[in-house]
Amino acid sequence: MITRREYLKQTALAGCGLALTRATAAEPNAQIEGRGSLKAHAHKRGLLAGCAVSAANLHEDAFTRVLAEQYDLVVAENAMKFGPIQPKPDSYFFDDADALVAFAERHKMKVRGHNFVWHEQLPAWFAGTATKENARKILTDHIMTVASRYKGKIQSWDVVNEAINVSDGRSDSLRKSPWLELMGPEYLAVAYRTARQADPKAKLTYNEYGIENESEDDARKRAATLELLKRLKAAGVPLDALGIQSHISAGKGQTFGKGLRELIDGAQSLGLEVYLTELDVNDDAVENNDIAACDQIVAGMYRDYLSVALENKAVKAVLTWGMTDAHTWLNGIKSHKEKQPNRPQRPLPFDAEYKPAPAFFALRDALDHAPRR
Ligand code: XIL
Repeated sequence: MITRREYLKQTALAGCGLALTRATAAEPNAQIEGRGSLKAHAHKRGLLAGCAVSAANLHEDAFTRVLAEQYDLVVAENAMKFGPIQPKPDSYFFDDADALVAFAERHKMKVRGHNFVWHEQLPAWFAGTATKENARKILTDHIMTVASRYKGKIQSWDVVNEAINVSDGRSDSLRKSPWLELMGPEYLAVAYRTARQADPKAKLTYNEYGIENESEDDARKRAATLELLKRLKAAGVPLDALGIQSHISAGKGQTFGKGLRELIDGAQSLGLEVYLTELDVNDDAVENNDIAACDQIVAGMYRDYLSVALENKAVKAVLTWGMTDAHTWLNGIKSHKEKQPNRPQRPLPFDAEYKPAPAFFALRDALDHAPRR
């Protein structure tokens, strides 16, 4: 165990690209089960440790064993999204989402709901069916149906996902999404009010990406996000939490600090909780092809990011977007196929053989160094 001061020093050095090899692999053979698990370490600090799960993963013994051992919070990677869960205007497909919720209940885990309103993964029927006249009914029917089915079983719902896109050029920075085109900015309030009505106990979350690092782009988007949260709160919209997706990249010089702190402080002063909802580290830009070296760099990013992101007690949960490098969405994205087709990504706490990666130990250390909630 290293002291907090030593840890912060290492974190600072890692941020300058130095000292990438120490501490992440601290005691790599130490026990990682039971009291050594992520959820046990998180629990000691009053945090939840979670990850995204796809329906297919639940048929894999190795996956479910590690999942139940390590985590106390799950989120469906796709199963609760609009397209997958409402594939036809009048029929829903609940099997995958039901299976995840049942798994979580069996293992005494909490569940995040993801998501009701997003510009992506809308069903194929949406474009030809939704109009300015019926969009509100489509949205409220969808939310009432899905949120009511899992009522009382969801820790938090991502009601709206990724509503900001500064480069769309609007003064309110809202993304020109199908929902905005059909309903105007009111779609947000409608969605939150409907979700509150359907499942009053779920914490209603606004989830966003590209708001983590110190770059100008992220700073602009952070400011727009805080403005949106302020507007919603001022209008009395039921909103309980900010989700910071936390898709970060290694090898691009990303740094984390003042901006991220101000975002979390800002959310806190609006009375919101904060969740780190989709943490992973894209390693495509890492020049070093040596796997062990690359893993240390990825772990360094976990440490750099979390040493700032977990400082504030308003942050109550950290989830990675996936659990093992065997199943990560990053291997499917276009930029990866173009840039590193021959080098699979290694963004998650467990490697493709389900062994804890340096990122696991970096995450666990960061939990240990977070102030107690
Ligand atoms: C991703 C899933 O991981 C993929 O399987 C799917 O093809 C596309 O969506 N931000 C989000 C998540 O909020 O819903 C996205 O999940 C990743 C980016």
